[in-house]
Amino acid sequence: MKKIAIVTGANRGLGLATSEALAQRGFKVVMAMRNPDKAQKQVNAFKMKDLDVVPLKLDLSQEKSINEFVEVIRKEFGFVDVLVNNAGILIDSEDGGNSSLFKTKSATIQKTFTTNTLGPFLLTQKIFPLMQQEGYGRIVNVSSGMAQLSVPQNASASYRISKTALNMVTNLFASEVQGADICVNSVSPGWVRTDMGGPHADRTIEQGIKGIVWAATLPKGGPNGGFFRDSAPLPW
Ligand SMILES: NC(=O)c1ccc[n+]([C@@H]2O[C@H](COP(=O)([O-])OP(=O)(O)OC[C@H]3O[C@@H](n4cnc5c(N)ncnc54)[C@H](OP(=O)(O)O)[C@@H]3O)[C@@H](O)[C@H]2O)c1
Repeated sequence: MKKIAIVTGANRGLGLATSEALAQRGFKVVMAMRNPDKAQKQVNAFKMKDLDVVPLKLDLSQEKSINEFVEVIRKEFGFVDVLVNNAGILIDSEDGGNSSLFKTKSATIQKTFTTNTLGPFLLTQKIFPLMQQEGYGRIVNVSSGMAQLSVPQNASASYRISKTALNMVTNLFASEVQGADICVNSVSPGWVRTDMGGPHADRTIEQGIKGIVWAATLPKGGPNGGFFRDSAPLPW
């Protein structure tokens, strides 16, 4: 039986590349995305390379969509080996909050938190039992250096708050592993040239996904409840 990996935000950027990398490593990859119809080109390109990928609709800002997604996963597969909570938004610039936290609107914090933190929390809450029943799982929460409490931070408050909270989500689920071969970790990809990172970022997508793929494919006894960049611990 093939191992099943779910990657959220799989239609572009780090999620698309992570999907390809995991499929190349022999996983059947469920490419979770808001608009599967618009990603047919990407999905077909993978299929042409004989990669085993399945696009599936998921909007992380809608609990109903998360429930429907998990229901399909339960019915179609019944188990999950890897969950990469990659989807995320950075919208602080919409209210000027990228330059000053005093401009940040509550709606921006709420919207960002819903997608970046609550969505991954709910999805993990529903997928985790499917891993527990098999005694195996790897969960990767794609976080950011902008989440670090140990490093001075300013502005883009919504994004930073949501990713620091996501790190706590990592911590909490890691504490539920209870002896099973399940590893739950946060990974910062660094600053990467995607739609979010922009053209001036110092990393390629290939460099960015390396640590994500590493955490998704950790061997038995691998770290649990950590924060990493490039496979090395990153201070919280
Ligand atoms: N790029 C960087 O420099 C950098 C640095 C640190 C951390 N990260 C993190 O890495 C992850 C991937 O970022 P990226 O650079 O690849 O960003 P990106 O190119 O902007 O892609 C973001 C992905 O998230 C999806 N998404 C957004 N809202 C969603 C929702 N409600 N439901 C489902 N999917 C949703 C997008 O789908 P649509 O196409 O439908 O919008 C897209 O697939 C994010 O969590 C980000 O915070 C990135």
